[in-house]
Amino acid sequence: MTREMTQLELLTELEPLVETNLNRHQSMAKEWHPHDYVPWDEGRNFAAMGGIDWDPEQSQLDPTAKAAMITNLLTEDNLPSYHREIATNFSLDGPWGTWVGTWTAEENRHAIVMRDYLVVTRGVDPVALERARMQHMITGYNPATNKDILHSVAYVTFQELATRVSHRNTGRACGDPIADKMLQRVAADENLHMVFYRNLCEGALELTPNKAVEAISNILEVFEMPGSTMPDFRRNAVLLAKGGIYDLRQHLDEVVQPVLRKWRIFERDDFTGEGERARDRIGAFVADLEAKATKFEESRARALERDRKRAEAVSV
Ligand SMILES: [Fe+2]
Ligand SMILES: [Fe+2]
Repeated sequence: MTREMTQLELLTELEPLVETNLNRHQSMAKEWHPHDYVPWDEGRNFAAMGGIDWDPEQSQLDPTAKAAMITNLLTEDNLPSYHREIATNFSLDGPWGTWVGTWTAEENRHAIVMRDYLVVTRGVDPVALERARMQHMITGYNPATNKDILHSVAYVTFQELATRVSHRNTGRACGDPIADKMLQRVAADENLHMVFYRNLCEGALELTPNKAVEAISNILEVFEMPGSTMPDFRRNAVLLAKGGIYDLRQHLDEVVQPVLRKWRIFERDDFTGEGERARDRIGAFVADLEAKATKFEESRARALERDRKRAEAVSV
């Protein structure tokens, strides 16, 4: 097998693996309905229907849960951009095309169920949410890094796992068993998506190890959550990190490391030249992330301690 495969050769060679994993996905994916996770009987009409308009007092979510819900929902809302990415880098024929359609349809359900939940429980300001959605979708998502199939499958492997972690922790942070159950369901989908892409990337590592590991290294170094272009993302990302929804430690321990272990990046003996250098870059990246994660945890612990003392002083 040549080490310099064209995009078309890669798509063709990987097609049987796509078919196997598509079948696997379809046998594992369970049908689910957003309305089963949304408390419809608590819903009341908004002002346009002659009901009571939204009031901040009605939200049961604390600031961290609100920020996490909005960030995760707006991220899901940008689906047309992600669809464009994978539709461009993957093929739309055969099992590739079936996968692109299946994945898109499943992802769409995530925004549906989260928005329905937030609307009927009056969890966030629906007008602000809609304005943020418009702004975010018009900006779209267009990462320069996902330029070919190898970069694409590497990116989505980490991204699906990152969203799984973020949804799962958001569910816990909401303090509402309904939200927790709903986001557990969404996180289960993200996990299946991650497995699909992780298996494909593993197949690519077999076919073209040096090019694949270079793509993995490039993606890790610039990885950003797909929602990074949304309004208030930086501010909300700080809140999410502080609240343990998604932080550097989780990124390293629950996303980066398990995937690298599964691909046996540091054990493989089929990298040469650029491939070996890419693996070294991954090693350096992991060590640097470890140092940053530890530093972040220490400064978070100090900040939480300061908050605790301040609260104590106020209550005396
Ligand atoms: Fe999703
Ligand atoms: Fe997903």
